[in-house]
Amino acid sequence: MSKPLRHLLNLVDQPSALVEELVRDAARLRADFRAAGPSETLHGRTAALFFEKPSLRTRVTFEVAMIQTGGSTVILDPASVSIGKRESVHDAAKSLSRWVDCIVARTFTQALVDDLARHASVPVINALTDEEHPCQALAFGQMMLERRGSLRGARVAFVGDGNNVANSLAALAGHCGMHFTLACPKGYEQPPALLKKVEALCAITGGSYKQTYDPIEAVRDADVIYTDVWVSMGEEDQAAEKTKNFHPYQVNAALLAAAPETCVVTHCLPAHPGEEITQEVMDSARYVAFDEAENRLHAQKAVLLHLIRG
Ligand code: CP
Ligand code: NVA
Repeated sequence: MSKPLRHLLNLVDQPSALVEELVRDAARLRADFRAAGPSETLHGRTAALFFEKPSLRTRVTFEVAMIQTGGSTVILDPASVSIGKRESVHDAAKSLSRWVDCIVARTFTQALVDDLARHASVPVINALTDEEHPCQALAFGQMMLERRGSLRGARVAFVGDGNNVANSLAALAGHCGMHFTLACPKGYEQPPALLKKVEALCAITGGSYKQTYDPIEAVRDADVIYTDVWVSMGEEDQAAEKTKNFHPYQVNAALLAAAPETCVVTHCLPAHPGEEITQEVMDSARYVAFDEAENRLHAQKAVLLHLIRG
């Protein structure tokens, strides 16, 4: 077993062995749950959930993950606790640390999650920030492991915005020796600081990172096409501009025809049919987004167990 994680603030800065271990653990936990049902591994433990942005999957799967392992959750209403406004991040983190075993936070800025972790004496989990969505990438890794038996050499074409989800997926690819290609319009590439880290990881694991403006080129040899909304939460003021710029990057039947016949399609969800993906593709047998959504539950259990039990 790798050294226990203290927090999960992003994926890119974690040790690769630990990321691979979390993905494997997630797959094992799903198999265990299917065979034996709920456990008591987190009996008596509590996670506080602080979500500044809307959520269905992440919030439900963290709650259910705690319930299915014998623990419980406390939901913090962001307007009521008003971290950083009603009181300092320092005082909120220190107070919460006296009552709960873990803080799960979905925030607008990465800085707030990092700040909570700096002051908390209990683990903090990034449940999505403007920079990363590590739990999503772990669930995707679990799905690919379950489909292929190994992540090494898997070819991922991300068609869309170089956003938080793309950042965590590129980090996963670097850690696990996958080949990641981002196809996006000019101006929506991923942050250079992240790419430097991803490329350093790829040099060790045999993975690769490529960026192109041509979606057809990106999917030509892909095992999986990944997409996400064009307008992320908090970017609503860019909606008109982004919708126009991203239109040629829609995942539709024509794009799928350029990919290998075995290539599947996934999405972190929520999806906007008719924008980044067509209903036709979502209704096809090649659409595996709900397998990934199911895995959120088990990938997060793996994270909670590592962080809370060590
Ligand atoms: N994919 C994902 O994180 O979904 P939610 O925003 O519904 O949590
Ligand atoms: N990129 C999206 C992901 C939603 C799960 C957002 O940040 O809104």
